[in-house]
Amino acid sequence: MLNQLDSSELYQFEFGDNQLRKLKEWKKLPMLYQLALDELKNKIKLIQTEWKVLNGYSPIEHIKTRIKEPKSILEKLERKGYELTVDNMVTYIHDIAGMRIVFSFAQDIYLLLDHLKKRDDLKIIEIKDYIANPKPNGYQSLHVIIAVPLTLFEGQRWMKVEIQMRTLAMDFWASMEHILFYKYEKQVPSHVVMELTEAARAADSLDKKMHRLRKEIMGVSEAALPQSSSNLLS
Ligand code: GTP
Ligand code: MG
Repeated sequence: MLNQLDSSELYQFEFGDNQLRKLKEWKKLPMLYQLALDELKNKIKLIQTEWKVLNGYSPIEHIKTRIKEPKSILEKLERKGYELTVDNMVTYIHDIAGMRIVFSFAQDIYLLLDHLKKRDDLKIIEIKDYIANPKPNGYQSLHVIIAVPLTLFEGQRWMKVEIQMRTLAMDFWASMEHILFYKYEKQVPSHVVMELTEAARAADSLDKKMHRLRKEIMGVSEAALPQSSSNLLS
């Protein structure tokens, strides 16, 4: 059959095949990102359970996951100036799979981060610490791009997930800011911007107050706190 085709037909045949492979990959991607989120969520839940049993409390309030809408992925590729291809999507868009972990106390965020760094079944790709260095508007969160391995028929494949880790107070502020931002269709009046920044400072001082109270109630010193808990996670 193949030797009956001339070279131009053969080229068309190969081109079609390649397109088909890309189409299949495009259809498969949401499933792969969802599987990566499920895997990661299971790992975090296991840590959470272990922490709770050994330490008597759960540091994590809740975990949310989401897959980015195809429309938003394409808009982001366009905004970043990349051609709209499946390869560019996988390479340059790091937040197709997103996980938000909300903690009671900021210190526990760093304990989880230290633990994630030590594991060899996960790869940390990038860390952006907006807790140590808040954004000018006051936004605080620890953003981690992490790769999660999936064992598939085709072999092992590492999928990227963006984790946003923040406290309840940081989460409350970010949700409100997001709502207001959209309400004003991104044209937020300057006095609202100022008040939001002030509110972020209030959220930060609430976190600091809770940290002081925790130390007092649990009767642990600043030095002992991360040490005793991080042992549980190692
Ligand atoms: P992207 O190309 O959009 O990922 O830009 P970036 O990598 O510079 O963004 P960054 O990692 O700083 O933040 C990405 C995500 O964090 C956003 O999609 C939001 O979910 C969240 N985020 C960042 N800044 C803010 C903020 O000021 N307010 C709120 N509510 N959320 C924010
Ligand atoms: Mg980002």
